[in-house]
Amino acid sequence: MKVVEPNEKVAIKLKVNGKEYEEVVEPRRLLVHVLRDLGFTGVHVGCDSSNCGACTVIMNGKSVKSCTLLAIEANGAEITTVEGLSSNGKLHPIQEGFWEKHGLQCGYCTPGMIMEAYFLLKENPNPTEEEIREGISGNLCRCTGYQNIVEAIKYASEKMKKQEIEKTT
Ligand code: FES
Ligand code: FES
Repeated sequence: MKVVEPNEKVAIKLKVNGKEYEEVVEPRRLLVHVLRDLGFTGVHVGCDSSNCGACTVIMNGKSVKSCTLLAIEANGAEITTVEGLSSNGKLHPIQEGFWEKHGLQCGYCTPGMIMEAYFLLKENPNPTEEEIREGISGNLCRCTGYQNIVEAIKYASEKMKKQEIEKTT
């Protein structure tokens, strides 16, 4: 096992939104700061105690709070941030849902909320209202009161189901 000294820097590789990056980081550096320094500034910091979820990204298929991971722990990982969700300028159904149903105001929680919704719908394409609320319970919003976020996720769930049907017919 390689031991890294506290003042030693380590080279890590990350694949973010399909593109490879190499960074040299101190072992104590948090993943959220590395992602932001790479230009993914849609990943936000809303707290210092792991409860707000504004820093949520998808890492190796799971939603994670990137403020609660060291960048060295993410070495070799595949990460998706909100910047990687649209394709060729076309919004992902979840992004469209937040727009259509007014699921955002200041927009600070939105990237994390959208990534959590992405994970939720991948795990459970037909969530009930209760399952949606439970699914986003790690993501705090101080503006919307959550109701329109729930509606946005329901919209996305419907649209994604339709797209699946179109693909298979
Ligand atoms: S910044 Fe609040 S949970 Fe990560
Ligand atoms: S839209 Fe402002 S915190 Fe959620």
